Amino acid sequence: MQNNEIKFPIGTFTYIDLFCGIGGFHQGMSKLGGECLYACDIDPDCRKTYEVNYGIRPDGDITKVRAEEIPPHDVLCAGFPCQAFSKAGNRLGFADATKGTLFFDIIRIINHHKPKYALLENVRNLASHDHGNTWKTIYDSLVDAGYYVNADPVIFSPHYLGIPQHRERVFIMCVRKDIGKLPPFVFNSVKIPSCSVDSILLEDYEIPDLDKFMLSKEQIDWIDNWNEFLQGIKCDKLPGFPVWTDCFCEYEDNPLLKEGWDVLPKWEQNFIKKNHDLWVANKEFINQWLVKARQNRLFFGSKAKLEWQAGETHSPNLWEHIMQIRPSGLRVKPGTYFPALVAITQTSIVGKKRRFLTPRECARLQSFPDSFQCDVKKAQAYKQFGNSINVDLVDLFARFRFGDKNVRKVYSQDSQFPQPKQLMPALNFEEGYD
Ligand SMILES: C[S@@+](CC[C@H](N)C(=O)[O-])C[C@H]1O[C@@H](n2cnc3c(N)ncnc32)[C@H](O)[C@@H]1O
Repeated sequence: MQNNEIKFPIGTFTYIDLFCGIGGFHQGMSKLGGECLYACDIDPDCRKTYEVNYGIRPDGDITKVRAEEIPPHDVLCAGFPCQAFSKAGNRLGFADATKGTLFFDIIRIINHHKPKYALLENVRNLASHDHGNTWKTIYDSLVDAGYYVNADPVIFSPHYLGIPQHRERVFIMCVRKDIGKLPPFVFNSVKIPSCSVDSILLEDYEIPDLDKFMLSKEQIDWIDNWNEFLQGIKCDKLPGFPVWTDCFCEYEDNPLLKEGWDVLPKWEQNFIKKNHDLWVANKEFINQWLVKARQNRLFFGSKAKLEWQAGETHSPNLWEHIMQIRPSGLRVKPGTYFPALVAITQTSIVGKKRRFLTPRECARLQSFPDSFQCDVKKAQAYKQFGNSINVDLVDLFARFRFGDKNVRKVYSQDSQFPQPKQLMPALNFEEGYD
């Protein structure tokens, strides 16, 4: 992370934390010396976690808050709800009567208070949603409010900084026009450092309730069976398509073809054919394997499906990988990084530890300090980290936007780009620092 050790005195500037969740923005902004004047979140569990950690009781539903009730502030931060734009949600975008329109509550507050800066975050899909029209609406609304905004959505992920989580998100940086222009944010992907999951994993002895996170015997046996499958099949390349064991039979016996081929979309027909071909090429082995695999009580529905997403390897071994139990099957990723934490319970399995990721490890993946007090309810804690913003990225984008020369040198085409006229007094990055 960038100059992690530098701390500015709290009160250097003020900020508000809309849709605050558990305070990913709060962590990053406070480290830079920001004083939080206001926070809000509709979720009572998030509000509780926020209060426990920061001593601030957030307001609830933003749509019920008048802009005048919010104190004036220098920086507005908002990771606004993303279901309306996310692949996992309904993707209605602004047409979503509730979650899609919350962006306009941000605009309402910006228009009233005209903070010097705003930093917004959302899912990657926002950049392409509705053929770019969603981004255009967001951009135009912020420009109309009197801000310079990065012209294209900036897409960034913690793994670009060496944090082992792939989580591409859109970051929107806004500077009030009288403060100064924003240089373009340029990221050279050649510089991506390598990641290691070990950088965030706890030793087993450090986990007080370890047994709650360990895989059961039945789960281990179920994964062992999938391992035997991967190691036993003969094929040029490991299946890049989802493996559906229902298709390991003659076409006339395939339950997915009960209604015939024509009712199925092309992509599904394609996967059925590929699975059938795999079965034909490995009939003897797969038939024997299926008998054994089906003896495990877990082997049905989504657990009878596999999604190999770990690339080519000579001797696949699931226990060296990161796995997730998803509605679409057991998803297997490389062992070097975690897929994006999500708000729904699809907690990653750390193959080599034969256990699920703990909330503390999720906190580390989001760069929260170990002193952060997680929600005591495990499911809530997973959800909260799945929703939160990565703290190191808040730090990076805040420094870039405030004009930290060192950060701009790395992420701007032109490090000589004129600095903002009116920096926060104690945040004067003009001289840079080492
Ligand atoms: C993507 S999360 C933001 C997480 C936050 N940035 C963090 O670091 O934890 C969006 C948050 O918006 C909250 N939210 C949804 N609708 C809301 C509303 N009408 N008013 C206030 N908060 C709302 C959700 O409860 C959720 O915590």
